[in-house]
Amino acid sequence: MSGGEKQLLAFASVYAMNPQIYVLDEPSANLDMAGIKRLSERLRVIKGKGHAVVVAEHRLSWVQQFADRILYMKDGHIEREFTPSEFRTLSDSEREQLGLRRIVPEQIQIPEISGDLENAELKVCNLSFKRKKQMIFQNISLSARAGDIIGITGKNGAGKSTFCNCLCGLLKPKGGEILYQGKKLSEKARTKLFGMVMQEVNHQLFSDSVKNECLLANEDASEQEIRELLEKFDLEEYAEYHPMILSGGQRQRLAICQAVMGGKKLFIFDVK
Ligand SMILES: Nc1ncnc2c1ncn2[C@@H]1O[C@H](COP(=O)(O)OP(=O)(O)OP(=O)(O)O)[C@@H](O)[C@H]1O
Ligand SMILES: [Mg+2]
Repeated sequence: MSGGEKQLLAFASVYAMNPQIYVLDEPSANLDMAGIKRLSERLRVIKGKGHAVVVAEHRLSWVQQFADRILYMKDGHIEREFTPSEFRTLSDSEREQLGLRRIVPEQIQIPEISGDLENAELKVCNLSFKRKKQMIFQNISLSARAGDIIGITGKNGAGKSTFCNCLCGLLKPKGGEILYQGKKLSEKARTKLFGMVMQEVNHQLFSDSVKNECLLANEDASEQEIRELLEKFDLEEYAEYHPMILSGGQRQRLAICQAVMGGKKLFIFDVK
């Protein structure tokens, strides 16, 4: 299943047990608009039946629509408490100081693509992928120059992760080719040149410490290089800790550190 499909399944399995109290840790992670709507509707029904619901969330716009109280947690204790209307009237600067995402979803400005794509570093030509008889994606072509950022979006199950996995060399496409600086790259070559932060980041953390995770990406890295990199990602205090004690967001940042440490030429973020 795709990330969003798994997320809905996890909720459905808890719902089927009909618990008295629901505790949901980032239930909207991975969900598209329709998935979030479905989840919200279900939570309203649950609330209407008199169940208590505790939700830990980063995506605030949907949760503030039905929460009765919002607790702000910092360094392991509850620092503030808001009613939904108090929460909605937070100014942008207050919200940013608290490190919170927007409450009203942001309008995304997509920049115009300008200039010459002829000499692009990365060229994806007519890429296709099939699972048994199911065509997951077909004839995808795109180009990127050094410094370009390309966003890929779409509904749950649209094929985004499958495409990312093909691009970074974890899956073999069924058709088409991927060129870097004019040269066609095999899967193995792509895993060396391209770095990926997986939607399920636990699948890519293997060592026994945060520091060793960086060394795995580049065994020649010095202590100082590792320390400086971890500092940039606010992870330095965890250098000697096991990656599995990190929070979800910290693990994602560690996976980015790995890609940076490995000197990757293309970064692929398959994020929640
Ligand atoms: N290992 C697998 N075996 C069979 N089918 C799979 C597998 N992984 C994904 N699929 C199916 O392939 C389709 C595309 O999945 P993919 O994970 O690429 O979607 P996605 O766009 O990343 O979705 P999401 O937004 O939920 O992360 C989905 O229908 C999914 O159920
Ligand atoms: Mg996905």
